[in-house]
Amino acid sequence: MRTTGDAPVTVRRLSAPNDFRAQLAADVAAGMRATPKQIPSRYFYDAVGSALFEEITRLPEYYLTRAETEILADRASEIMRLVEPDELVELGSGSSTKTRLLIEAMRTTGGSRYVPIDISEAALREAAVALCSDYTWLEVEGLVGDFHTDLRLLRRRGRRLLAFLGSTIGNYPPAGRAELLTTIAATLDDGDALLLGVDLVKDVPTMVAAYDDTAGVTARFTKNVLDVVNRELDADFPTDEFTHVPRWNAEQSRMEAWLRADRDMDVHIRALDMTVPIAAGEEIHTEVSCKFTREGITAELGAVGLGPVAWYTDRAERFGLVVARPR
Ligand code: AVJ
Repeated sequence: MRTTGDAPVTVRRLSAPNDFRAQLAADVAAGMRATPKQIPSRYFYDAVGSALFEEITRLPEYYLTRAETEILADRASEIMRLVEPDELVELGSGSSTKTRLLIEAMRTTGGSRYVPIDISEAALREAAVALCSDYTWLEVEGLVGDFHTDLRLLRRRGRRLLAFLGSTIGNYPPAGRAELLTTIAATLDDGDALLLGVDLVKDVPTMVAAYDDTAGVTARFTKNVLDVVNRELDADFPTDEFTHVPRWNAEQSRMEAWLRADRDMDVHIRALDMTVPIAAGEEIHTEVSCKFTREGITAELGAVGLGPVAWYTDRAERFGLVVARPR
C-alpha cells in the first residue's frame, strides 16, 4: 500500500474559491424575502449533512443508491466496453462503492485516470488518497471547484467518460438542468460520453417513503440546513421547532422538502442584520428531487445535442442510467 507521499494524487483548485459564506448570505437574504421562503439544498452538505446523507443511502426506504449500485454492478463493464474511456470524470464525489465499480471496470478497457470534482476539498482529498492506495495503477486528479462554473477549465487526457450519478441532476429545476446539461455537453468531444443517473417516476408511496423514513434521518438531514445558516450567518433558527414536510408534486414530477414552523417566531440573522418573522405553520422550501421518465430525459439530452446510446435500469425499474454522446 502506498502512502500519501508517493501516490500520484493531486488536488488542485479549478478557480479562485468563491466565497461560500458570501454566496450563502446572498441566497438566504433573497430566500427569506421570497414567498414562499426558501433555502437552497446545496447548503445541506457541510460535514454533518454529508454524513447524514451517507446514512440516508443505507436506509431501507431510500432505494436510489442501492438501485443505481445494482445497475453498475451488472453493467459497468458493458459501459466501459461501449465508451473505452481513458479518463473518468465524476461530478460530486459520490459514494465510493459506485465509483469503485466504474474504476475497476475502466481498468479492463485500458483507462487509468480518475478526475473527481467536488466543492469540498477535505472530502475530495480523503477519497483521492484512499482510491490511490487501493488502485496503484490509477492516476487521480482531484479538482476542487464548482461544476456549474468551472467545468470548462478541465484539462483533457484522451477519451472522456463524464459520470453524474445519484440523480443529483434531480435537485435542479428544468431551467437549471438545461443550463447544467449545456455546460456538460460543451466538455464532451466526439467519442466522449456522459453517464447520467436519474431516479424514475414510480408509485407515490415508494417515492414519499424515500424522503420520509421512519428513523427520521431525512428530517435531521433537512433541518441541518438551519444549523448551517445559524453557524455561518450567526442566526438563531430554533431547529427543533421545525417539522420536516416531504411532499410529492405531481404536476412538476418531483419530491419537495419543506420545513414547517411549529410556532410563531422571529428569527434573527445577525450577519445579514435581518429579523425574519415566521408564522406558525409557515413553510420554508429547501429541496426538489425531480423524478424522470426515459422519454423525458431523452428529450432533455437531445435539446443540448446529446443522443442516448444505452439505457439501463435496475431489475425493479426504479432507477435509470443513461449513456449519451454528442451527436
Ligand atoms: C443526493 C440529491 C440525489 O435528492 O434524493 C436524499 C438528496 N435529499 N434525501 C436526493 C436527498 C433527501 C438526494 N440527492
